[in-house]
Amino acid sequence: MLMFEDDVPAPKSMPGMMSGGAGSHPGPLLGLQSVAQPLAGTPHVAGMAMPPMMPLAQLAGTPATALRRVNAADKRIINGATDVNQLVPFKYKWAWQKYLDSCANHWMPQEINMNRDIALWKSASGLTEDERRIIKRNLGFFVTADSLAANNIVLGTYRHITAPECRQYLLRQAFEEAIHTHAYQYIVESLGLEESEIFNAYHEVTSIRDKDEFLIPFINTLTDPHFKTGTPENDQALLKSLIVFSCMMEGMFFYVGFTQILSMGRQNKMTGAAEQYQYILRDESMHCNFGIDLVNQIKMENPHLWTSEFREEIRHLFKEAVELEYKYAEDTMPRGVLGLNAPMFKGYLRYIANRRCQQIGIDPLFANEENPFPWMSEMIDLKKERNFFETRVIEYQTGGALNWE
Ligand SMILES: [Fe+2]
Ligand SMILES: [Fe+2]
Repeated sequence: MLMFEDDVPAPKSMPGMMSGGAGSHPGPLLGLQSVAQPLAGTPHVAGMAMPPMMPLAQLAGTPATALRRVNAADKRIINGATDVNQLVPFKYKWAWQKYLDSCANHWMPQEINMNRDIALWKSASGLTEDERRIIKRNLGFFVTADSLAANNIVLGTYRHITAPECRQYLLRQAFEEAIHTHAYQYIVESLGLEESEIFNAYHEVTSIRDKDEFLIPFINTLTDPHFKTGTPENDQALLKSLIVFSCMMEGMFFYVGFTQILSMGRQNKMTGAAEQYQYILRDESMHCNFGIDLVNQIKMENPHLWTSEFREEIRHLFKEAVELEYKYAEDTMPRGVLGLNAPMFKGYLRYIANRRCQQIGIDPLFANEENPFPWMSEMIDLKKERNFFETRVIEYQTGGALNWE
């Protein structure tokens, strides 16, 4: 056992290995870049690398021009010159409100009772093989997807956003991604699933790996330590990565899996897992909406980025993302199951893609697609006080209700 007094052994360097949260990722399959580089000339104290002292204004990405008092009108989402350490005066109140709303929705995975799920999973006749496949594939995707999402925020997006209200939300979002990874791990542990099978699915299951490989170049753009915004080309690269992450990953790649597990819950199966997914869906819906607000604000402040070529590229990426998610639907549902089948999701994914395009100001990609799962919208909008699956009664509101009068 490693004691606090012990020297921490120096990590052995491995080719393609990151030293951030995704550092355990061996890299060859998904190609994540190294993001933490040693600083040249870094002083050492008692064998320990110490960062060089920096003037205050240069800390945390604050430009040297940010020494004067902050005027809200001067704030910008990207390439801003105001001090990122001063949260107020607010300019982007929508971001602050989302931060407050997210905190009020706080939940933890272990608050949810998994006993019924465990009994059902262990019962030989409790679930069909196709239902078990859905659960394992779901966890196989999500158990690493939310870690990719967290790394994308912490090691990438956060560095490039110069509005402190938005940074504040991103910090909350990063913690929620950690809670989601915790929730998926908690389900895996509760059901006694083979951990190595589930946690390696993103290497070993083609339909999952293909989705992740679609995302990796965009995550790499943001986490590349040499990437900086400030040129039209790089600002477009940032905008593209933000759209891919919020509209295609959080706004589309999660939706087949969410629909499948929530359908189980509606049929009184795996109600604990379904309740976890219900709260995750609510969080992800907020993440997606925040990302869309961010994209639209960047567009408004930088209209020169929103060229017809750029929009065409985004439309192409949406089509690719719909195809990948549809392949995932086919792989997870080779036959009809739970009243669902893969073709139903073709229409659903096209409906979602149209909606995301419309939300960021791009013409719909597909004609007249309707939502075959209107109940999913109800799930997203569900008030926190209600518990759809009635596995317990809880009030999640945990703050923001102080009244001094
Ligand atoms: Fe998440
Ligand atoms: Fe998310």
